Amino acid sequence: MSLYRTRVAGTGSYLPPDLITNKDLEKLVDTNDEWIRERTGISERHRALPNQATSDLAYEASLLAIKDANLEPKDIDCIIVGTVTGDYQTPSTSCVLQAKLGLNGIPAMDVGAACSGFIYILSMADAYIRMGMYKNILIVGAEVTTRFVNYKDRETCILFGDGAGAWVVSRTDTQAKDVVYSSHLRAEGSLGDLFIRPSGGSKRPFSQEVLDDNSYWFTMKGREIYKNAVRTMSATCQEALEFNKMNSSHIDWLVPHQANWRIMEAVANHFDFPKEKVISIVDQMGNTSAATIPVAFDFARKDGRIKRGQTILLTAFGAGLTAGSAVLQF
Ligand SMILES: CC(C)(COP(=O)(O)OP(=O)(O)OC[C@H]1O[C@@H](n2cnc3c(N)ncnc32)[C@H](O)[C@@H]1OP(=O)(O)O)[C@@H](O)C(=O)NCCC(=O)NCCS
Repeated sequence: MSLYRTRVAGTGSYLPPDLITNKDLEKLVDTNDEWIRERTGISERHRALPNQATSDLAYEASLLAIKDANLEPKDIDCIIVGTVTGDYQTPSTSCVLQAKLGLNGIPAMDVGAACSGFIYILSMADAYIRMGMYKNILIVGAEVTTRFVNYKDRETCILFGDGAGAWVVSRTDTQAKDVVYSSHLRAEGSLGDLFIRPSGGSKRPFSQEVLDDNSYWFTMKGREIYKNAVRTMSATCQEALEFNKMNSSHIDWLVPHQANWRIMEAVANHFDFPKEKVISIVDQMGNTSAATIPVAFDFARKDGRIKRGQTILLTAFGAGLTAGSAVLQF
């Protein structure tokens, strides 16, 4: 029996000001604006300034989310960051963020579930709150992917951008309606090779050889990931609807991981979900990994589409391979 339920008390997002347009990429690799827009829906991505690391983006988004929740940083009692492009291998980006927020003492942890990171950390925060461990948890999806992208590889460099999105999730009572209803997570480690940064970890530490053979960067098998993304996101959405005894008509907005518009469209088609109710800002952001869902959610809130009281389905897939979905009333 849960003692409490979890509500989304505040949201915030931050995209750094520097842009990489499709035209910019035409100068770096053999590609063109039309191909990129047709195959992915992406027109531009944001890039962190040279003096910005992942925690800096996370900090900006966090301040906005805390303010939106009508709280002060001191009210936060736990921080969870979803990232695979942290400031350092160690310490964790959540610890760096904790220090920036002046919150020494509270627990801070990173979760490396790649593009599914935000659903993973939402589910963890929901479990902590339901158990009564914490009252106001700051969850942040934050990435500076552009430092790990090979701008000589046309298949990957067109996809990724930088950004951060944060939510404050807070304790509420078990009778409340505006709560996280469910989360479903999955992973298929046997498919880890489909998206991997092969070197720079303990398996193959950083060296001159690693620099020379380009294994420091993200590498991927795009077409296979595409198929798996549609399969797993559709399956976790189905799982979420069945668990909540809902169908697509109960959902006001689908906020999927923003990797490629064609993937989002295929997932919506899979369960007859109207495309007009799919939140997509992939054209202006590209794939910001763990940040896409909270950033897209925050944009849709600010432009008036997502409103309090609506029912939202989130779904994501990512390296690992990982995947997940969550349903909430906002
Ligand atoms: C990468 C992706 C955009 C490629 O689109 P696609 O429709 O699957 O394209 P294909 O892989 O079939 O490639 C078609 C052709 O375009 C070429 N191509 C690849 N990237 C290109 C680019 N940037 N510009 C122009 N041509 C390109 C390929 O080399 C291929 O040429 P070929 O037919 O001569 O072999 C798409 O597969 C995708 O989005 N996958 C998911 C990736 C992802 O989300 N990764 C991160 C999450 S883990």
